[in-house]
Amino acid sequence: MKILVTGGTGFIGSHTVVELQKTGHEVVIVDNLSNSSETVLDDICTISGTRPIFYKADIRDKEALRSVFSEHKIEAVIHFAGLKAVGESVQIPLEYYHNNITGTLILCDVMREAGCKTMVFSSSATVYGMNNTVPFKEDMPTSATNPYGRTKLMLEQILSDLTVSDPEWSVVLLRYFNPIGAHPSGLIGENPSGIPNNLFPYIARVAVGMLPCLSVFGNDYDTPDGTGVRDYIHVVDLALGHLKALDFAAAHKGVETVNLGTSRGTSVLELVRAFEKESGVKVNYKIAPRRAGDIASCYADTEKAEKLLGWKAKYGIEDMCRDGWRYMNK
Ligand code: NAD
Ligand code: WQD
Repeated sequence: MKILVTGGTGFIGSHTVVELQKTGHEVVIVDNLSNSSETVLDDICTISGTRPIFYKADIRDKEALRSVFSEHKIEAVIHFAGLKAVGESVQIPLEYYHNNITGTLILCDVMREAGCKTMVFSSSATVYGMNNTVPFKEDMPTSATNPYGRTKLMLEQILSDLTVSDPEWSVVLLRYFNPIGAHPSGLIGENPSGIPNNLFPYIARVAVGMLPCLSVFGNDYDTPDGTGVRDYIHVVDLALGHLKALDFAAAHKGVETVNLGTSRGTSVLELVRAFEKESGVKVNYKIAPRRAGDIASCYADTEKAEKLLGWKAKYGIEDMCRDGWRYMNK
């Protein structure tokens, strides 16, 4: 199939493009490079042997999207493009709503004009909010505590409304848990600018000496060692989940919401230890106060992904640390 990947030069997008190409799909990327670099296209080409077609464009630019759809017979869209930093979304909410919501509305409008009504969308486990008990299951109530999370919740609702209004639409809403690691080639991975907000890139930067010490946000949670527990998933597993979701969306109509996680919880200190083991480097850390808005435990019920999509994560924490470390060293 010919697939449009919005945000395809980003962290999860680039890994998904590689897997799409390996499976014989033709890929067209639209990315405004606000959080990625064009050099990723060379790295994708080195890994897969094919350079994806690339448009440097913003998804809010309707004319730019129209010309992409007129130049290519796009059969489905995997929609990653969006802003994703929780803290930043509290500081600049209008930018988040405009980028994520307006951008998706314009994309859907252009898809409808072009008669392309199949989409796989990047949602987030953040929509499970603060009031559910683990493991999180797709039919649990949802809520959000910050503008970023609200954009994901609103977009889930908007895309669901679209499938109700027009039975030709097919949408799979993928709720990712905590994607980490990198491609085993060491060529593509996550490279946040500035000081990382997320645990894994922070650990990696402490390990290489770019940052002096990790602050562990709280050791008094109701978890086995007191530190926060998350469902870390290898970004390559996540990418493979998109291929399964795409197959499903192409063969069905309507909307489905599916968790992409491993169903295994790992604490902050467990991740630090696993990273130390795989890298052979000591990671300095200190215990710090809890971070506002954090929950004690977050991990997925993955039964729906297994039954509906035939997908199950195969990599473990060791693989994620090894591959993330290899990327960091390159
Ligand atoms: P990323 O920032 O690496 O990739 C997003 C890409 O979208 C970037 O290359 C950026 O330049 C591009 N982009 C942003 N706004 C755009 C716009 N208006 N027009 C065109 N391109 C635009 O992020 P990622 O980690 O790969 O995340 C991809 C998607 O998955 C996002 O929607 C994010 O909210 C969602 N998600 C990510 C995580 C995570 O922890 N990484 C977890 C859950 C959900
Ligand atoms: C993981 C654990 C922290 C940094 C976020 C978003 C979520 C989703 C994924 C997009 C927690 C602890 C962290 C540090 C620490 N993104 N930690 N020291 O908060 O689970 O999820 O990314 O959709 O929406 O909220 O991920 O990596 O920030 O934190 O102790 O310097 O590590 O308290 O327990 P989180 P994270």
